[in-house]
Amino acid sequence: MAFVVSKIQNKADIIYLPETTSTNDVAAKLGKESAPHLTTVIADKQTAGRGRLGRLWYTFPECALAFSIIIRQETTILPLLVSVAIHKALAAFTPTGSLAIKWPNDIIAGTKKVAGVLIESYIANPQNTKRFYIVGIGINVNQPSEPLPPEINATTLETIASKKLEREAILQEILIELDKNLDHCLQKGDGAVLDYYQAHCMTLGCNVTWLDGEKPIVGKAISLTEEGNLLLETDQGLVTCSTGDIIPQQEVY
Ligand code: BTN
Repeated sequence: MAFVVSKIQNKADIIYLPETTSTNDVAAKLGKESAPHLTTVIADKQTAGRGRLGRLWYTFPECALAFSIIIRQETTILPLLVSVAIHKALAAFTPTGSLAIKWPNDIIAGTKKVAGVLIESYIANPQNTKRFYIVGIGINVNQPSEPLPPEINATTLETIASKKLEREAILQEILIELDKNLDHCLQKGDGAVLDYYQAHCMTLGCNVTWLDGEKPIVGKAISLTEEGNLLLETDQGLVTCSTGDIIPQQEVY
């Protein structure tokens, strides 16, 4: 089924592909060829979808959303801003309070993942080193015919909303929110986006384990830095997490 949405607010194109390796790769190629800010690539099937930290990302055809957006605006809080845009957009399709943000940019229901974000940064070529970003978003929208593999600890929006949802409507809402929040940060600063993030981030205030280097670090997530990193209070003092995985202590894997 082809997506009929083909423009984001008349600002940039939405390019639909029935199948591709990874929409991030296609968007990065277009970005290097000067495609404008907010150009979006969406695919119904990815044969080499990837997630954060070198993981694979599987897209259930016809059921999930997999898309990537070219961002040509500098903001230190892009990962947080993207989660805010997704969380706000999905709130229109799900019961109030059913979704939360898990640092840095997962959208979860309870302890199960609904959406993930992979942000990559590129330059066009050695002569044109102005940086642009590819924001890749994967969302489990409707329930596939086979059950989701339990090891991915995920759920779908259909399960949360107790009804099938229109993928195009969700795509459009997210693109509108992303555009709105980027504009807001440009005009008025990051304050409102950071406030929204903090109000909906389930990681803040939790005892967590940070998995990044060789040894897990245990601490309490107390706040965010200006760059959107997570600050942990540990027995060894304050520790700043900039990447890696954060596991809330009550979660059992
Ligand atoms: C994560 O949670 O690890 C991030 C998952 C990001 C998946 C999306 S699907 C669209 C885009 N293309 C990819 O190959 N990855 C992102």
